[in-house]
Amino acid sequence: MKNAVKNDSLNKSRGGFTSRGFILAAAGSAIGLGNIWRFPYMAGTNGGAAFVLVYVIAMAVIGVSLLLVEFNIGRHGRANAIDSYSKISSKFKFIGYIGFFSAPIFLSYYSVLSGWTVYYTLKSAAGLTHVPAAGLGDFFFGFVSSTWPPLLFHLLFSAMTIYIIAKGVSNGIERWSKILMPVLFILILALVARSLTLSGAADGLRWFLAPDFSKITWKVVIAAIGQIFFSLSVGMSGMLTYASYLNGDENLVKTAGVVSFFDMLVALLAGLMIFPAVFTYGMEPTSGVGLIFITLPAVFSAMPLGSLFSVAFFALLVVANLTSSISILEMPVAYLIERKKISRPKAAIIVGGLGFLLGVAVSLGYGAWSFISINEMSILDIFDYLGSNIILPLCGLLSAVVVGWFWREGAIQEVTNNYTINTWVAPVWHGIVKFVVPALLVLVFLSLIKVIG
Ligand code: PHE
Repeated sequence: MKNAVKNDSLNKSRGGFTSRGFILAAAGSAIGLGNIWRFPYMAGTNGGAAFVLVYVIAMAVIGVSLLLVEFNIGRHGRANAIDSYSKISSKFKFIGYIGFFSAPIFLSYYSVLSGWTVYYTLKSAAGLTHVPAAGLGDFFFGFVSSTWPPLLFHLLFSAMTIYIIAKGVSNGIERWSKILMPVLFILILALVARSLTLSGAADGLRWFLAPDFSKITWKVVIAAIGQIFFSLSVGMSGMLTYASYLNGDENLVKTAGVVSFFDMLVALLAGLMIFPAVFTYGMEPTSGVGLIFITLPAVFSAMPLGSLFSVAFFALLVVANLTSSISILEMPVAYLIERKKISRPKAAIIVGGLGFLLGVAVSLGYGAWSFISINEMSILDIFDYLGSNIILPLCGLLSAVVVGWFWREGAIQEVTNNYTINTWVAPVWHGIVKFVVPALLVLVFLSLIKVIG
């Protein structure tokens, strides 16, 4: 093990993250396509403000609590997810294995979508803003249904992810994201300002922020729960793996709170940036997967220096996506290095390569293989549904049961840094994890398998 982790900036020793580095890495994992692509897409297809309301509540109750659960198990375990679960009891290591085997699925479509963002970055430089708003849908579908270009960009993005993890240069990425993520944030604020002054802003705001309570159905709840898991990177033990590189004195409660808050803020801002444009240009909130790719270019063409904004936005989104995809890949790689004695580059190539291959199917799912569908869901939709609505909440539920019912003292000791901080928050959090989170998630699963609702 010593050898395998040598030369590895992330792993240099267990406890490799400084406090600042850890917040950045965790926020980098959380913030990405989940906030900017998936949140508006889900809000759009699930009734707008009704979805947003459930999302915010679920984030505050379930999201933060489970993020803290993962931080807790990871820092306590100081090892890859499977061994960290084993440290509590070997009965529980299967939860780590679920994350391990699902990582390639997440990688696959994450990389395909990120490939689309790379393409939009280049196209923005080549005059995307000249495409009239009415033609942006055709432009998008023309691209994703072609065979080679999306595959090429998928390959490019997969290669970047594998390269970063193989080199273990996450520290470099951290240094960059420290500068680039605030820039992305400011750019989003500028786009929100532009969107809010479009003629359809009032309609967009109403759709996004004034809930029609009758629209809160189980389907909306399932979608909102899936969204918090995907968006916070919770459930597949990626956050757990990051926390395993921490040393003892990090305030985990504070970090979980800060990361969840920013994750939610960026998602809400993405909504404010998209929906006014949707209503201004007569687009459909229910456009689905293509929503941001179809609406954002219309916003860019309606602003001075639009092309520049467009290039900058999509390029920064690529960076945000990279800091998320590396957290997906690091999880199984950490296990292969520590347990199977495989070198870091080899592990990154094996798992990343598998993700790439699965992604080929996802990419072709919009073109040559579009005949493959279940309930009108494309391969991407199927992977995303399986991943975000089933695997992540299931692992989340299991992790809550482990910490809630089988590990009270240890968990509290970990959250309180040996009873020195968070002494009143910890028992409250533990109670939520023990009773509230499992109860809510069980209800969601019952409705998912149509026992209720
Ligand atoms: N949270 C990431 C995003 O919002 C995606 C992700 C999911 C990352 C699961 C890691 C694990 O883009």
